[in-house]
Amino acid sequence: MDLKYGSDEAKKFITNVGLITSVGKNKENIMSAEWTHVISYSPWLVMINIGDYTATAQNIAETKEFGVSIASEAQDHICSIAGNGTGKELDKIGLLKEIGVEFVNGKKIAAPLVSGAALNLECKVVKHEKMGNKIMIIGEVVNFRVEPKTTPIIFSSGGYKKLSDFAGSKPRVDAKKLEELTNKYRKN
Ligand SMILES: Cc1cc2nc3c(=O)[nH]c(=O)nc-3n(C[C@H](O)[C@H](O)[C@H](O)COP(=O)(O)O)c2cc1C
Repeated sequence: MDLKYGSDEAKKFITNVGLITSVGKNKENIMSAEWTHVISYSPWLVMINIGDYTATAQNIAETKEFGVSIASEAQDHICSIAGNGTGKELDKIGLLKEIGVEFVNGKKIAAPLVSGAALNLECKVVKHEKMGNKIMIIGEVVNFRVEPKTTPIIFSSGGYKKLSDFAGSKPRVDAKKLEELTNKYRKN
């Protein structure tokens, strides 16, 4: 079956937004990728799934490295700019700098990373494979920088949401009751 873009079923998925940075034949570039996932702790592996037509895919195929900046709640505008228009035609990093977005240099990769992101990752490609209508790129994290007080933005139903909107909501099951039930249903 196919998953229809923008359909009710597609809207049931909730993701981060990874701001993927790269350098290559399309020069320095940034794109948004909601399909950015941690897939292993040891080694620390991150997977992105992106169109093979993107400037980012071309850059990464060439250099075998990329940056991931997990966008923070205050960076929805960066996600929108990075996710619209291609680096083949538009210097999105130049445009972002012009509106005050700051970048830091990667230590182990040539691509820059977005300042103020919840998490910055520098990745070296370990696997690169066509998967459905996207390319699956798995990178091993070789350097990172975390902003402990920064919360990642949520992308869902085609829009941005804040995790802090859900903070403090009442638990649906009383903690004591849940502990009792866990003991009751434990398999011996
Ligand atoms: C919030 C957001 C998330 C996106 N997630 C993805 C994604 O996971 N994979 C993908 O191929 N495109 C995704 N896109 C679309 C790309 O970012 C878009 O095609 C971009 O122009 C590609 O840039 P490039 O050609 O400069 O690499 C997303 C766009 C937005 C706004």
